[in-house]
Amino acid sequence: MKNIAILGFGVVGCGVAEVIAMNKDRIAKRVGEEVRVKKILDIHEFPDSPFADLITTNKDEVFGDSEISIVVETIGGARIAYEYTKQALSSGKTVVTSNKELVSTHGVELMQIAKANNCSYIFEASVGGGIPIIRPLHRCLAANKVERIAGIVNGTTNYILTQMAECGSDFEKALKEAQSKGYAEANPSADVDGIDAQRKIAILSTIALDGAYVDPTKLFTVGITNITTKDMEYAKEMNASIKLLAVFENKEDGAFAYVAPHLVSKSHPLACANDVFNAIMVTGNALGDAMFYGQGAGKLATASAVVGDVMDAALHQDKDAHITEWFVSDKPVLSPIENHVVSVLLRLPDSVSDEAISEAFPEISCQPCVYEAEGEKAVILGKDGDMTEAQLAIGLENFDNVISMIRIF
Ligand code: HSE
Repeated sequence: MKNIAILGFGVVGCGVAEVIAMNKDRIAKRVGEEVRVKKILDIHEFPDSPFADLITTNKDEVFGDSEISIVVETIGGARIAYEYTKQALSSGKTVVTSNKELVSTHGVELMQIAKANNCSYIFEASVGGGIPIIRPLHRCLAANKVERIAGIVNGTTNYILTQMAECGSDFEKALKEAQSKGYAEANPSADVDGIDAQRKIAILSTIALDGAYVDPTKLFTVGITNITTKDMEYAKEMNASIKLLAVFENKEDGAFAYVAPHLVSKSHPLACANDVFNAIMVTGNALGDAMFYGQGAGKLATASAVVGDVMDAALHQDKDAHITEWFVSDKPVLSPIENHVVSVLLRLPDSVSDEAISEAFPEISCQPCVYEAEGEKAVILGKDGDMTEAQLAIGLENFDNVISMIRIF
């Protein structure tokens, strides 16, 4: 019998208990023994839950129980979850988590504690919800230099953008729907301001850089709050979709990681990921492109990845088989975003002259957009790969009447 505890009985924690109950027999067969949820720690009691008798508010019943060897942390955030994770790892209990904030903020330290205590800190569910991406990137693609990761990694914003594009919904209504379905973060700012995607691409970038830690708080990040239904109209006319992309690139001109809404051509596979679905395209120098697609948030989908990790931990617990080591490099791991080459759709009032645009963006390719809304001038800048983020920022300083600016993937 492998005894586990769940910390935090929210959407994902409850999903973990449900998946283990639902697939009890096949899990036991694969692991070679029964995996049993022995305790669920939460500050609330859940008298109506089928798992009510497992719930405790006393953390000593988890940390002081030597029979519990694997702890699932689904509390979220980086405060209590951080303390409890350190406590569990320090006493040799492997911790499995979906907590991208904690992994991306304190992953280096937590993996070191795990190593020192001969246990593991594993986090497949922290990126892409139920989609396998951490282990494939870390293990199956280990022979590759990862040249690019481009992903739709936040289900809430993808749901909102899809609703805006397809149903003409406004932003608030679509956000409320995403929240009611259990996709959104407790604080929706983490979703709509791109912070959740920032944390996830920091995790993927660190793995792609062989464990050299990428600090999410340093990444250039733009959310979706400024996207309007008019932007959707442009996207439609350009045969494109607007997607919040989280991108990592590692090429001759440097390594970059950033998050921003992009126009993605409808012919690109990433444009096909709608609603809460996530899609992550990885480009390796041996593999070429591979795309990972599936449910990026939600109760059972995320629990599927957590329970997969629990089973892996149960199978390999005495072998250090899944210890991943991250480290803080003494050199910068990423290049300044100002050097990154970018192409954008720029919308201005039609009173702005062509001369004013070419003076603001000298020697940068500029062509009219296939569509212009009434009263507007719309141009595509940098399509020839001749504009950096720094040049874009300098050029934009010439205008105090920009209607919108969206990057093009
Ligand atoms: N709020 C997150 C999302 C949950 O919408 O993708 C899954 O990480």
